[in-house]
Amino acid sequence: MKLIDARRDFYRKLAHQEGYRSRAAYKLKELNKSYRIIGPGFYVLDLGCSPGGWTQVATELAGNKGKVMGVDTSYVEEIPNVHIIRGNIEDESIVEEVFSYFGKKVNAIICDLSPQVSGTWAVDHAKQIALNYSATKIMDYVLAYKGNALFKVFDGEYSNEFRDYIKKKFTKVQLRKPKASRKTSSELYFICLGYLS
Ligand SMILES: C[S@@+](CC[C@H](N)C(=O)[O-])C[C@H]1O[C@@H](n2cnc3c(N)ncnc32)[C@H](O)[C@@H]1O
Repeated sequence: MKLIDARRDFYRKLAHQEGYRSRAAYKLKELNKSYRIIGPGFYVLDLGCSPGGWTQVATELAGNKGKVMGVDTSYVEEIPNVHIIRGNIEDESIVEEVFSYFGKKVNAIICDLSPQVSGTWAVDHAKQIALNYSATKIMDYVLAYKGNALFKVFDGEYSNEFRDYIKKKFTKVQLRKPKASRKTSSELYFICLGYLS
């Protein structure tokens, strides 16, 4: 078995053992350890949350005093104490749903959005970046001043443009590739701290 496959397998097995719905859970755990994107008591919006690995981790990190809401076009099995809606993040009516659940702005937005991949990288990359721009539209309504965000990005020709766009909105933006992310995959994570408006 190649080292990369072994690592992939390691996180899949670990997720199974520890009751997480996806190995992606470990990406959020690792990034949060370094950057504290989510802290206790945070209100968290998870865009593109299915099957729910990040949502589970967000719930643990936010604790009893926090609140978490997840959105996905796909069905997500219930997660205790989480409000899940089946919807499209390109639909701005999501904003009303966010306010009706939280009653105020949120402290963190996490976006692990992936389009249905076609296999043609340039197309998939462009679609994925477009989803991130849609997520920032929601973010601009619902993220509280000094709040944090996390975006997965399929790296490609529009990544720098997206980074420059997002950089203007936060005090600090960092790029990371967590260990649980396959080396062969071109996904990167933009950690955005301290929303400015
Ligand atoms: C990689 S998965 C998310 C995995 C999740 N973070 C976890 O830890 O289980 C990406 C998700 O983005 C969702 N997605 C893609 N486009 C979307 C859209 N327009 N609105 C809502 N969800 C979308 C997909 O349905 C898919 O479930």
